[in-house]
Amino acid sequence: MIHLTIDNKPIEVPEGRTLLEACREHDIHIPTLCYHPALEPYGACRLCMVELSQPGRTPRLVASCVYPCEEGAVVKTKSEIVVRSRRMTTELLLASAYNTPEIQALAEELGVKEVRFKVDKENACVLCGLCVRACQEIVGVSAISVIERGIAKKVAAPFEVQSSRCIGCGTCVLICPTGAFQFESVAGFQYASPQESAHRLGYYHLGSELDLRPNFVKDITGLLRTPSEEE
Ligand code: FES
Repeated sequence: MIHLTIDNKPIEVPEGRTLLEACREHDIHIPTLCYHPALEPYGACRLCMVELSQPGRTPRLVASCVYPCEEGAVVKTKSEIVVRSRRMTTELLLASAYNTPEIQALAEELGVKEVRFKVDKENACVLCGLCVRACQEIVGVSAISVIERGIAKKVAAPFEVQSSRCIGCGTCVLICPTGAFQFESVAGFQYASPQESAHRLGYYHLGSELDLRPNFVKDITGLLRTPSEEE
């Protein structure tokens, strides 16, 4: 077992836990965006930063979703520097995807009232990579990836053409925290005919009585909505 202190509370966790997992197990709230319990942590959004002090080292900010619990570590999840870091991250998220209710709610939670950067009101993708990782790790297809660099970075199928690997399961749509994916924009989905792929059509009718999705997609849907995914 590993012994550490989080927010002045002595805590004991089994080896291999990340700081985020330890916090969640002890009901300590940390906002996250790119983390999902069904996927390998990625450390992309930097919302989950916490302040870490270790013997003989200067305190520093680390991403709790990827940082492992270490013996004797002292962690603060609500210190001034942590709050400042989360607010700045949220401000940047607002600038890149202003009109998304999830980011707006996050801004409200963290008390971010104004954005000092150029705001994009059309975009909803915050490049958290959940869709890409779900397609790869859960569905095992890798039909989409992050392409381009810098401000041109985006999620798309290779060469931005219809992907023959996409099975239209909609996992990317389900897991996207900001609603950036729509069924019509899933790689390859818009061109699929019902004859070629009946389950794509069935998926499209999700919400009505018609649900022709194959069983493994239904299982994924359950997995993506685990009770532990509270944020
Ligand atoms: Fe940890 Fe995104 S949740 S970096």
